Amino acid sequence: VTLHESAVASLALYGGTPVRTSRRPWPRWPDPSPDAERNILQVLHGDRWTLTSPLSGTELFERRFARMFAAYTGVRHCVPVDHGASAVVVALEALGLDYGDRVLVPALTWVASASAALRAGLVPVLTDVDPATGSMSVDDLDPDVGARAAVVVHWSCAMADVPALVAAGAEHGITIVEDCAQAHGAEWHGRRAGSMGRLGCFSMQHGKVLTSGEGGAVVTDDDDLVPVIEELRSDARRYRDDQGMPGESELVESGGTMGSNFCLSEFHAAVLCGQLPYLDGQHDVRRRNYEILDELLADVPGVRLLRPSDAQTRMSIFELPVLFDELPAGMTPPLVAEALTAELGVRFYQTDLPLHRSRLFQPSTKPAFAPLAREFAAYHEGRRFERADWFFDHSVVTHHSTLLGGEEDMVDIATALAKLSHLID
Ligand SMILES: Cc1ncc(COP(=O)(O)O)c(C=O)c1O
Repeated sequence: VTLHESAVASLALYGGTPVRTSRRPWPRWPDPSPDAERNILQVLHGDRWTLTSPLSGTELFERRFARMFAAYTGVRHCVPVDHGASAVVVALEALGLDYGDRVLVPALTWVASASAALRAGLVPVLTDVDPATGSMSVDDLDPDVGARAAVVVHWSCAMADVPALVAAGAEHGITIVEDCAQAHGAEWHGRRAGSMGRLGCFSMQHGKVLTSGEGGAVVTDDDDLVPVIEELRSDARRYRDDQGMPGESELVESGGTMGSNFCLSEFHAAVLCGQLPYLDGQHDVRRRNYEILDELLADVPGVRLLRPSDAQTRMSIFELPVLFDELPAGMTPPLVAEALTAELGVRFYQTDLPLHRSRLFQPSTKPAFAPLAREFAAYHEGRRFERADWFFDHSVVTHHSTLLGGEEDMVDIATALAKLSHLID
C-alpha cells in the first residue's frame, strides 16, 4: 500500500487546512416550524395531554395526525404510536402469527427492525441485501427458511422493490411489512413507502426526516387489521365509534387482543402535525442537493453516492451513503469519516453495524427471549452477509440535515471527497 504523502499531509485530520474555512453554519436539526410551536402551546395549556385523557370537546392532535399522515402516505389508515420500534412490534403482532414463527429481516438495519420480531414472539432470520440499494430484494426471500413474514427496510435513501417482494412473498406465505423509519414520503413508481406492503411502520425519532423527538406510526389499507392495531397499542382499547360525553374516554375497552401502552402523547402529536406540512419542501431541498453533489462527484474518481433504483420515483434521504469501491490507501471507514468531518465541520460516520456483527443485537442477553434467542443463535451460526458487510466496510454516511443547505455546501463536500480520492490508487 502506498500513501500519497502530499495528499495525506494536506488532510485537515493531520493538521492541513480544512476545506471548509468559512464560518457559514451547517443547517440545524431539528428545524421546528411555527405551527409546531403554536400546537405544542395549545396542548400545554389545554386539558388533554394524551389520548387517554378524558374527552373535553377538543379534537386530539393524535387523531388529526393520523388523518394527515394516512393521506400523506396514500393509505386508508394510520395508527400513531410512541416509537418506530413499537410500530414494528404492533405490525408483526397484528399479523397473528404463532410463537416462534420466523420473520426475515435484513442484516443492514437498525437493531429495532429485528428486536421487534423477538418482542412479538418471533424469530428474526437475517437476510443479505441488494448490492445496489442496501435493501432486501426478492433474491433474499429464501423460501426454505419457512418465514411467515418479512420486515423490509428501505435503507438510508433507497427503497426496496416492495411490489416484487409482495408478489414473491405471496407465493411462499410470506407477508411483507415495510419498515419505513428511513423513508417517509419516498415513492416507488409513484406509490409511497408504507403503502405497498400489508403494513408500513414509521419512526419519528429525533434524527428522522419527520420528527417529534420520539414517535412512530403504523399504516395500512387493511380495514380488518385496524381494530387489532388500535388494541395492540393501547392495552386492548379502541377508539370509540360515537362522540362520547365530556369526561368519558376516547377509547372503549373492546378487549379483543391484549396490547401494551404504545400511545403517542399529545405533545408529540402536536409537533408532528406542525412539522408534516414542511416535509415535502425539505425533501425537495435535499434531492436538489443530492443531484448537485452527484454531478460534482462525476469528476471525482473512486467515490460515488448510493443510487436508488430507476423505479424509485422520489427519494427520501434519511442518511446519505458515500460509497468507496476501494478505500483511500491506509484508511478504514471510521478514519474516512473522521477525515471528512475534520475537512467539513459536519459529522460523517459509519452506518450501523450489520446485525450479525452488532453489539446492540444480542438476543441471549434477555431471559424473556430465551427460546427464540436459542433458535436465532443456532440458525445464524457461521452465516455470512457479505453484501451487508460491504456497505458497512465501504461507505460513510452523513445525516440528511447536511443536505438542507445550499449548493456551496455540496461544493465543499465534493472538494473534501476529491481530497480523499487522491489517496485511492
Ligand atoms: C430502520 C429502522 N427501523 C426501526 C427504527 C426504530 O425507531 P425508534 O427509534 O423510533 O424506535 C429505526 C430507528 O432508527 C430504524 O432506522
